Amino acid sequence: MEYKKLSNGVMVPMLGFGTWKIPSDIAEDVVADAIEVGYRHIDTAALYENEEAVGRGIRRSGVKREELFVVTKLNHADHGYQNTKDAFETSLRKLGLDYVDLYLIHWPKPLNVESWRAIEEIYLSKKARAIGVSNFHIHHLEELIQQGQIVPMVNQVEFHPYLTQVQLREYMKIHYIAFSSWSPLQRGKIFEIVELQEIAKKYQKTVAQIVIRYNIQCGHIVLPKTITKSRMEENFNVFNFNLNQEDMDSIHALNKQTRVGSDPDTVYAKK
Ligand SMILES: NC(=O)c1ccc[n+]([C@@H]2O[C@H](COP(=O)([O-])OP(=O)(O)OC[C@H]3O[C@@H](n4cnc5c(N)ncnc54)[C@H](OP(=O)(O)O)[C@@H]3O)[C@@H](O)[C@H]2O)c1
Repeated sequence: MEYKKLSNGVMVPMLGFGTWKIPSDIAEDVVADAIEVGYRHIDTAALYENEEAVGRGIRRSGVKREELFVVTKLNHADHGYQNTKDAFETSLRKLGLDYVDLYLIHWPKPLNVESWRAIEEIYLSKKARAIGVSNFHIHHLEELIQQGQIVPMVNQVEFHPYLTQVQLREYMKIHYIAFSSWSPLQRGKIFEIVELQEIAKKYQKTVAQIVIRYNIQCGHIVLPKTITKSRMEENFNVFNFNLNQEDMDSIHALNKQTRVGSDPDTVYAKK
């Protein structure tokens, strides 16, 4: 495993396990499988409605709490100072944990600054080892940096070969905000990209492994999701090779600025 050091010194396993769309009736088994395969970083959210099952999977794994990195997120419906504090306590209770490793604002909304004030206090109370945001464009980050006390430690955003977020990456580097990639496999679309198939053939790896390795060499935390144990193993097997610079550059060059998910400026902006 490779690790990313956050601005507050906390170490994050760069390969995490995504749990969006994993229904709660199977999430316990899936998370226990992922931890058995070797994943130590689990990404969930109040919005995914599987925090209780994720918590059960974590406990069933038998792996010590301090060896795991658990992330959850503030639902867009719960913004605001007091709502955020209450929502955080609800997430902790559902997960069955007394702290999380990272707490994120899931989507930007007009009340970002108020919600962030609550999250800063959660961090200072040591119930979250690190705090950050998700789906924040540069202008959303600017607002928090100017009006908040603590610079977010992570921004978790959509990133894959067709959306390489060039300006956002530069901005985040300058502000020591770690980049975390969601939908790294473009929800399955990467498998159709001929250039990636060719690179995979050259390294005798799968397209999924090439794209996960690409993220790690970009310095990103990366969160592929699968409910299939053999794919968990495949996606985890990315620490025994390196892409050369030419191949990194040719993956960067695939960028088309296209999203598989929602645009943060519109999806929950006014709701
Ligand atoms: N912060 C946010 O707003 C946000 C938004 C979206 C996602 N996320 C996080 O990012 C995680 C990943 O994103 P995602 O779930 O949208 O998509 P993804 O990881 O890009 O793709 C998941 C899809 O790829 C398939 N897959 C996984 N490994 C594969 C492999 N080795 N070969 C072939 N197919 C494979 C999965 O199938 P099976 O499961 O059927 O095996 C699933 O259909 C989420 O689970 C969540 O934790 C965060």
